[in-house]
Amino acid sequence: MIITNDIKYVGVNDHRVDLFEGQYVVTKGMTYNSYVIDDEKTVVIDTADVNFTEEWLNNVETVLAGRKPDYLLVQHMEPDHSASIVSFMNKYTETTILASAMAFTMMKNFYGFDYSDRRIVIKEGDSLDLGKHKLSFISAPMVHWPEVMVTYDATDKVLFSADGFGKFGALDVEETNWKDEARRYYIGIVGKYGLQVQALLKKASALDIQTICPLHGPVLKEDLGYYIGLYDTWSSYRPEEEGVLIAYTSIYGNTKKAVELLAEELKAKGETVEVIDLARCDMAYAVSEAFKFDRLVLATTTYNTEIYPSMHTYIHKLTERLFQNRKVGLIENGSWAPTAAAVMKKLLEGSKNLTFTDTTVKINSGLNETSIAQVKALAEELAK
Ligand code: FEO
Repeated sequence: MIITNDIKYVGVNDHRVDLFEGQYVVTKGMTYNSYVIDDEKTVVIDTADVNFTEEWLNNVETVLAGRKPDYLLVQHMEPDHSASIVSFMNKYTETTILASAMAFTMMKNFYGFDYSDRRIVIKEGDSLDLGKHKLSFISAPMVHWPEVMVTYDATDKVLFSADGFGKFGALDVEETNWKDEARRYYIGIVGKYGLQVQALLKKASALDIQTICPLHGPVLKEDLGYYIGLYDTWSSYRPEEEGVLIAYTSIYGNTKKAVELLAEELKAKGETVEVIDLARCDMAYAVSEAFKFDRLVLATTTYNTEIYPSMHTYIHKLTERLFQNRKVGLIENGSWAPTAAAVMKKLLEGSKNLTFTDTTVKINSGLNETSIAQVKALAEELAK
């Protein structure tokens, strides 16, 4: 794939991975992107996952067409991008490797080498002249690891954004909706680091960017304001859309009945509503949807004086990603000592700027007149 006249794509598609990073379902596979800039000096930008070393090395060799790579630029040391460094450096023994100081420490820790005899340590503001292209390096700590550098090519106005602007899904699967899988990827993997993403967006806003080359997902060339705008929304923890997500667990279907009634009531009031059964859904999707909408209802059962396990996991995943700035309603169920609402509220107490509804629905085993009235009151409060 040609990105610009001098920038070529040499990444790989992964359809073997079952869980990306050991936890994310990727039914449409994954990409490990890598790029070659073919100039007076040649540079290869990042490597590929360990299962694709040979395919990636072949891609690099094909694009270089007999030339030797002068530089290997390592922007990020997570093994989905760094696992082929040693094979590359063994194959191309004249190549100089560039990375941040912390990346070289990680390289030694992961692979036993830090190439002290043929390396350049880069930091924010450093640049590399390739001839026609001049690369400048921008520190992007915690987007998504502390050693990350992103790279700007002023000649072709390309930002190599490391994990930023990535998404789940391989490039040989038809792209239908960038936003949903990019959101699930972003919230899941980088969501905790909104402040650091904001810092990177601020630095990027000073650059004239016409193409974004991430380490996952498609190269972005059109309408970059759309993608940057979404990153700004996500990283500042603002809701992306108006709507109510109802995330629930239900053991015998009674809590589910309350959830269904609430959804009906809200829809009747013209609200967008999504209902997710936390015991049966992709948890990463459920988390990302909570960050999408401006209102969240949590409905669960009291369980071992706590709450149902998948709800506990869900709230933990929300709070560790700094869930905030939302309106929250609670539905609890309990057959002898209902405490779920108090437990959920306590788990959320460190979250910033959450507004709890006045109404909390209390179900004592099954819905009755009182709890049905509470569901209706909750819908009234949540509706805009
Ligand atoms: Fe795609 Fe943080 O590695």
